[in-house]
Amino acid sequence: MNKDHISFQFISEPTDVNFGGKVHGGQVMKWIDQTAYACATGWAQNYCVTVYVGGIRFYKPISIGAIVKVDAQVIYSGTTSIHISVDVFSRKLRDEEFIKTTHCVIVFVSTDKEGNPVPVEKFIPQSAHQIDMEKYALRLIELRKSIEDEMSRFVHS
Ligand SMILES: CC(C)(COP(=O)(O)OP(=O)(O)OC[C@H]1O[C@@H](n2cnc3c(N)ncnc32)[C@H](O)[C@@H]1OP(=O)(O)O)[C@@H](O)C(=O)NCCC(=O)NCCS
Repeated sequence: MNKDHISFQFISEPTDVNFGGKVHGGQVMKWIDQTAYACATGWAQNYCVTVYVGGIRFYKPISIGAIVKVDAQVIYSGTTSIHISVDVFSRKLRDEEFIKTTHCVIVFVSTDKEGNPVPVEKFIPQSAHQIDMEKYALRLIELRKSIEDEMSRFVHS
């Protein structure tokens, strides 16, 4: 088993519906978080918490009663953080092709029992695609710095 990725497949249910008759965005975010959590924990072989979810892009709606596929892939690891790219796809039961509906990158941190960050195994990209994705993760880290600066004005503790 390759522990740098994981994929879930299931059918979207009537209880997943939003007011417009499609799958609720919050439900999609929950699937993303669960799949990415499984991927991060599998990589770290340790408990992980979400430290950042950025730029969730909903490209297409997901119908109720469709097959949903959620792919999570480690694309970068820092000292204690694991960066996971997540893609969500769906297809109607009688269709052959999956359509990409959602994408985002989530960052997890491996923690000890007290919630303190602990080091993780380094992810070494092998394929050209993985090297490209690692560059993407590094670019997002840079972009996030300016987003964090902007957001910090609105964080009140
Ligand atoms: C995650 C948490 C343990 C990190 O603690 P911290 O004191 O901020 O830790 P550090 O500053 O040492 O950063 C730890 C890692 O998080 C990364 N990190 C911190 N802020 C980040 C951000 N805004 N975006 C991306 N990564 C971030 C750091 O880069 C570092 O990664 P590295 O070790 O690979 O370089 C702490 O913020 C926390 O407990 N947050 C709440 C988690 C939570 O409840 N999640 C939701 C439910 S799972």
